Amino acid sequence: SFLEMEVEQINKGKYEHYMQKEIHEQPESLTTTMRGRLKRGGSTKAKTVLLGGLKDHIKSIRRSRRIVFIGCGTSYNAALAARPIIEELSGVPVTMEIASDLVDRQGPIYREDTAVFVSQSGETADTLLALEYALENGALCVGITNTVGSAIARNTHCGIHINAGCEIGVASTKAYTSQIVVMAMLALAIGDDAISSQARREVIIDGLFDLPNKVREVLKLDQEMKELAKLLIAEQSLLVFGRGYNFATALEGALKVKEVSLMHSEGMLAGEMKHGPLALVDENLPIIVIATRDACFSKQQSVIQQLHARKGRLIVVCSKGDAAAVCPGGSSSCRVIEVPQVEDCLQPVVNIIPLQLLAYHLTVLRGYNVDQPRNLAKSVTTQ
Ligand code: G6P
Repeated sequence: SFLEMEVEQINKGKYEHYMQKEIHEQPESLTTTMRGRLKRGGSTKAKTVLLGGLKDHIKSIRRSRRIVFIGCGTSYNAALAARPIIEELSGVPVTMEIASDLVDRQGPIYREDTAVFVSQSGETADTLLALEYALENGALCVGITNTVGSAIARNTHCGIHINAGCEIGVASTKAYTSQIVVMAMLALAIGDDAISSQARREVIIDGLFDLPNKVREVLKLDQEMKELAKLLIAEQSLLVFGRGYNFATALEGALKVKEVSLMHSEGMLAGEMKHGPLALVDENLPIIVIATRDACFSKQQSVIQQLHARKGRLIVVCSKGDAAAVCPGGSSSCRVIEVPQVEDCLQPVVNIIPLQLLAYHLTVLRGYNVDQPRNLAKSVTTQ
């Protein structure tokens, strides 16, 4: 009705679509996610993380034999992005499960496991079934949701709300970045008594405080991503290569593109390139490579060189000032998207944003419904 349309426009504010609004409000949603949870100051225990909903369970999580992350879609990708820092700071082995696959296999879950359920809505049927299964098997169950009072929040032993605010666009954007930040804070909380990693933890906490500013900065790429979308508007397919912290960025960037712009897109682990995907490379297929500075940078440089040698159409996401370092034979050989550099484990939060913007603009330019993609639902409550 006319009234409903009016209300919708008020909710969207100055934006045309919810997805656009939710992408651009990430500096604020991330600030809300961290509010009251990061402590800086005092002299001795200067920098710490406080997660109220977990405080009675931190020790058990730290002592568990394994942490299993369970989710679907974007929530799974967020856990994948956080996996390396959780392994690093906690020393506990981390495994990943797509909720439906865990249930299909009836995979082993033990009493000594911590099972972490990641879900924006807290109502996804597949994730709920996996939760039931993990509860039956006696695991400590932790919920990470954006919805207070949701089924996953109610039925887990403890949890963390991501506090990203209501997300309406079917394609998850601000919930993804808030989920990563919450899981980075979880990593800090679990690792909290290790002296050996104290300096590392403090750098990450400083990085978290500064993250909303860096996100504000990367959002300035909006127009540049619209230009790129214009170039890609008629493509059949798009590949995204990442590794390490940014394997998740590749999967999530490709998921955004395919779910809203209806363009075929695949995220791939760059380390697997030679084992199949390289056969797809020619002068026509556009390929995005995530090559921001971290321990994997030189490996990504060599991936770029190999793609270039096969005349790949390269679009490289790199750290500010690195254009020359990532483009073989100068900047004419590839298109570069420069993003602000942050602490390696937080870089996925920054890196996904240009890809969210690309997916958004591609969709609008191609004339599809960006907030309500064909055949998809925000919350999949049936199996
Ligand atoms: C649906 C949505 C996705 C979401 C997934 C998991 O497929 O379209 O955007 O990532 O469900 O949802 P959840 O609420 O559990 O995070």
